[in-house]
Amino acid sequence: MSIIRNILNLPFAIIFFFISLIALVVNLFIPRKKFIEIQRRAQQNEISERLKSVEGLIKSGDKVLDVGCGNGHFGKAVADRLKAKVSGVDVVDYQHAEIPVKFYDGHKIPHRDGAFDVIILAFMLHHVEHQEELLAEAIRCSRDKVIIFEDVYFSPWQWAFVVWNDFYTNILFGAVRVVKGEAGKGLLSIPMPLTFRSVKGWQALFRSYPVTLKRTTVRHARHKPHSKCVFCLEVKP
Ligand SMILES: C[S@@+](CC[C@H](N)C(=O)[O-])C[C@H]1O[C@@H](n2cnc3c(N)ncnc32)[C@H](O)[C@@H]1O
Repeated sequence: MSIIRNILNLPFAIIFFFISLIALVVNLFIPRKKFIEIQRRAQQNEISERLKSVEGLIKSGDKVLDVGCGNGHFGKAVADRLKAKVSGVDVVDYQHAEIPVKFYDGHKIPHRDGAFDVIILAFMLHHVEHQEELLAEAIRCSRDKVIIFEDVYFSPWQWAFVVWNDFYTNILFGAVRVVKGEAGKGLLSIPMPLTFRSVKGWQALFRSYPVTLKRTTVRHARHKPHSKCVFCLEVKP
């Protein structure tokens, strides 16, 4: 990230804090049908971005496990667009998922060693206190790749923004989604340890596993101080 962008992120973060509070109130008053439509469109845009970043990494016919799949929208898009066989695991059932899902205790992934070509961990590791253990589990279940999407930070103020944004998205805005009937009540009980890392922090963690980091792609949001990163790990045989 450029130094100017990094510095500008501080006023952006402060402005965004107030804008998001106003957005919360506005969304409460938007009619339910319109609210659901806006959420659906936002999710589709996000999924298109994610699909671009996994192009070439997931092949037709690959067996894919989406760990922490949530509503399964991303997994379903991977299945439909990339012709992969996708299933999920999660710890909370807060929305009827669009892919087959197994619920488990959040520690031992309920699948055998090397059962999948690709394991996806999309914006879920910062919901996990025992990241090291879960990452080892993901690597155990993969025979080829582990793809990780994460919110990352490049400065202390961006860290503060990312923490606020996660609390806002899952709890405050999550409550609005529940009130509107767009998500189930369980959304409010997903673990929130806020275990974020910087890009370098993640890369340092990956070095302690039998994997090769093949790709790191950072995507900076245009209108807010939000940076998302995709890491592709190749599992060593
Ligand atoms: C922010 S949501 C992301 C959902 C989905 N991956 C997406 O990108 O839309 C985080 C998800 O991780 C799940 N989660 C939290 N801890 C977990 C664990 N130890 N194992 C599997 N899933 C977990 C939560 O229940 C939640 O569905």
